Amino acid sequence: MGSVHLSYLLLFLTTLGVVLAVSSPDGASDSNWLLRIKSKFVDPYGVLENWSEGTTICTWNGVACSDDHSHIVRLNLSASGLEGPISPEFAHLTSLRVIDLSGNFLNGTIPPALGELHNLEELLLFSNFLTGEIPSELSRLRKLQVLRIGANMLTGQVIPEIGELSELRVLALAYCQFSGKIPNEIGDLKHLINLDLQQNSLSGPIPESIGGCKNLQNFAASNNRIGGHIPASIGQLESLNILNLANNSFSGSIPVELSHLSNLKYLNLFGNELDGEIPFELNQLVQLETLDLSNNNLSGTISLLNTYLKNLETLSLSGNFLTGSIPSNFCARGSSLSLLILADNKLLGNFPLGLLNCTSLRQLDLSGNNFGGMLPRGLDRLESLTDLLLNNNSFTGTIPPEIGNLTNLEDLYLFHNMLSGGIPVEIGKLQRLRELYLYENQLSGSIPRELTNCSSLTCVDFFGNQFSGSLPDAIGRLKNLEILQLRQNELSGPIPPSLGYCRKLQKLALADNKLSGSLPPTFRFLSELDLITLYNNSFSGPLPESLSLLKNLSKVNFSHNKFSGSISPLAGSNSLTALDLTNNSFSGPIPSELSLSKNLTRLRLANNFFTGEIPSEFGQLEELRFLDLSFNNLTGDLAPSLAGLKNLGHFLLSSNQFTGEIPTWLGGIEGLGELDLSFNNFTGTVPAELGNSPKLLKLSLSYNTLSGTIPQELGNLTSLNVLNLQRNNLSGSIPSTLQKCQKLYELRLSENNLTGSIPFEISSLSELQVILDLSKNHLSGGIPSSLGNLVKLERLNLSFNELQGKVPQSLGKLSSLHRLNLSYNHLQGQIPSTFSGFPLSSFIGNDHKLCGPPLLTCSELKGHERIWQLSKAGVVGITVAIVFTSTVICMVLLYIMLRLWCNWKKVTISCSETGGFESKSREGENWVYGEEIKSGQYWNTTSIVSSKEKQISKETCMFHYSVSLSDSTEKPLV
Ligand SMILES: *[C@@H]1O[C@H](CO)[C@@H](O)[C@H](O)[C@H]1NC(C)=O
Ligand SMILES: *[C@@H]1O[C@H](CO)[C@@H](O)[C@H](O)[C@H]1NC(C)=O
Ligand SMILES: *[C@@H]1O[C@H](CO)[C@@H](O)[C@H](O)[C@H]1NC(C)=O
Repeated sequence: MGSVHLSYLLLFLTTLGVVLAVSSPDGASDSNWLLRIKSKFVDPYGVLENWSEGTTICTWNGVACSDDHSHIVRLNLSASGLEGPISPEFAHLTSLRVIDLSGNFLNGTIPPALGELHNLEELLLFSNFLTGEIPSELSRLRKLQVLRIGANMLTGQVIPEIGELSELRVLALAYCQFSGKIPNEIGDLKHLINLDLQQNSLSGPIPESIGGCKNLQNFAASNNRIGGHIPASIGQLESLNILNLANNSFSGSIPVELSHLSNLKYLNLFGNELDGEIPFELNQLVQLETLDLSNNNLSGTISLLNTYLKNLETLSLSGNFLTGSIPSNFCARGSSLSLLILADNKLLGNFPLGLLNCTSLRQLDLSGNNFGGMLPRGLDRLESLTDLLLNNNSFTGTIPPEIGNLTNLEDLYLFHNMLSGGIPVEIGKLQRLRELYLYENQLSGSIPRELTNCSSLTCVDFFGNQFSGSLPDAIGRLKNLEILQLRQNELSGPIPPSLGYCRKLQKLALADNKLSGSLPPTFRFLSELDLITLYNNSFSGPLPESLSLLKNLSKVNFSHNKFSGSISPLAGSNSLTALDLTNNSFSGPIPSELSLSKNLTRLRLANNFFTGEIPSEFGQLEELRFLDLSFNNLTGDLAPSLAGLKNLGHFLLSSNQFTGEIPTWLGGIEGLGELDLSFNNFTGTVPAELGNSPKLLKLSLSYNTLSGTIPQELGNLTSLNVLNLQRNNLSGSIPSTLQKCQKLYELRLSENNLTGSIPFEISSLSELQVILDLSKNHLSGGIPSSLGNLVKLERLNLSFNELQGKVPQSLGKLSSLHRLNLSYNHLQGQIPSTFSGFPLSSFIGNDHKLCGPPLLTCSELKGHERIWQLSKAGVVGITVAIVFTSTVICMVLLYIMLRLWCNWKKVTISCSETGGFESKSREGENWVYGEEIKSGQYWNTTSIVSSKEKQISKETCMFHYSVSLSDSTEKPLV
């Protein structure tokens, strides 16, 4: 019974509702639905506050009624801070013609029920957080003219049903995650004016049917993955103003049909894979203002002429394979061309004089081509120039003084050319100049005082020229200077104190010059300074205390100077990441405050006069990868707390007076690549734990007082290149496990008390090349004949042992050998004939039992067995031989040393190029392993702004991203 009553009640209520709805012509039912919609929104700014039952709906915020107030026609709640979902109840507001909910924080999906709004003409939901797909029900909105739902998180396809929206004028789906193909049905949209598909993941080709969109004016599909050929049918879109297909995968050639687009003002095909020549017919596009064909594979010559394209303002053809020179009739009189970017092609010839008629040019970029010859004096006809980029060409001659007439110039890039002569003093007229890049030329003379008039300068890079003389005294006038890169010149004299007034300076690179004097106290003002490299100069004196005020210092390289005194002014900064003071005359203790630089990764203090111990606080430097304290007067044991140095890759303490035992924790450092404790007073044994460092490349413990045996575990160091245990008190036999160190190319165990025989397993170390030195031990037994397998070996020293038996003939196979020492053993018999070229000294002291050249022949030896007598002639002969061979040796040594020296120079130069923190010159480049190479790049100060980077950032801010569709039209089409 109850349920029957209930149904009656429901029926009654429903009927009442219908009656009410019908009986309230002022839209009372709309108000109900709107109130329900309101209840779904989160409205933090109270925009919907006046939506309440007491008031008439036509006064509600965002609601617009028809003229007779009989129904609502528009709902505009854009940019109202609304959150939450779009309620499906919108479907009931069937009188609506416009819904604008753009620029809110709406989430959820687009309700399919919106398809019921059969009067809807504009649906604007862009700039929200909507998800899901486009509901196909929207295709029922047959009156829809504007559909803008971009800048959401919508996914799925651009549905084919969209073709049914035959009244559509604007379809804007940009900045979403739509994928799949553009449907063929797009061509059914005969009235379409704006089609914006930018920044999605669309793929496939553009359908030929696009030619059906006869009224299309703006078409943007950039930043997708659309490919194939650009359809020729686009040429039928006669109304087209804007065509932006940049950053897709279009291939094939540019269709000639594009030249039919007589209304085209903007054409952007940047960043595709288009090839072939640029169709000459494009010169018919006389309305064209912006043309970007850069970053494709286009070839042939520049066929586009400003003389035809009279309205052209921007032309970029960079990053192609264009050849030939710029046509002399390129520029029209009264040309309005303001951006011309031809960078990174294969263009050649002299500076194109024809360009000087493009007097409106503001930005001219010819960089990365093969242009040569002199810069024309008439350059100053381009008086509007703000950016002149001629870098990476082969321009010669001097910088013309007329450059000073280009008073609008902001960026002047002449780097990487072959310019010579001095900087013209007229440069001082360039008051707006911000970036001056002259690096990698052959410029000389002094840096003109007038340069300090260029008060807008922020970046100056003169790296790799031959500038000489002193820095201008007034350099402090460059108040905006952030980067001063003068490395690798021939500058001399002191740093002018006024440099300290360049308070914005962040990077100062004066390395590789002939500068001298001490650092001026005014450095205290350089509080922004982050990188300072002064290496390879003759700076002297103590560091000013005030350096400690430079809290932003991160990378400091003062190496190879004559600085003295304490380094405490550099200690204690949080930001320090790399400090290199190698090769100076610093003294005193290493300040424990350095441990406050928690991010320190490199610390190199080698070749100074530091005393005292390694501060135990250094254990806190967990990021430290490179610690080089070698060649100082440091003492004491290695504190247990140093075990905190978990990330050490290089630990170099050679040539100090450290004592105590080698700590076992060194074996636990996973990344350890180089451990050099040589030339100290370490005692105790070689810890077996060292065998636990899988990445160890070099282990040198030579010249200490280590005793005990060589641990078997060293055989686990399978990456090891160098093992040097020379001159200790090691005893026992050579562990055969060393055969597992298959990468060894240098093995020195000499000057110990090793006994037993030479393990034949050593013969499997086929990479041994630099030396195998087992001399001055007590090794006995025979020389394993398998040693003849070490075919790469260049030096073999087995002298001063107790080796017996014959010299195996197999050793004769060691064809790379150029130093051999078997002297002072008990060897006997015939020397392999290939050894006849080695000096006597290689073999003497073997109980006179060895024979064959260079010693006596074996038959002679028989005759002289008892007394080793020589005839006078023999003595003379041998003397001659000794003199001769030692002369030869001296010359060879001299040659080798010259080579080494040259190499060393190369090494230091190339290393400084990759970072200015050269690897230790003594040991050369062998110790540069993976990680260091990487950090070397990180350190690259060659050109603080690399040309490439610069180029990209340049393009970014000059053109490619700034001129987007949204800039060209009043409203952003999303
Ligand atoms: C949508 O936004 C509302 C309000 O900010 C929030 O409470 C809700 O969790 C969101 N829903 C989703 C699916 O993110
Ligand atoms: C520049 O324009 C002038 C006047 O039209 C013309 O005489 C001259 O030849 C042009 N210069 C170059 C280098 O094309
Ligand atoms: C341009 O520079 C040259 C050389 O510096 C100078 O002689 C000439 O007067 C300058 N022209 C103008 C218009 O400033």
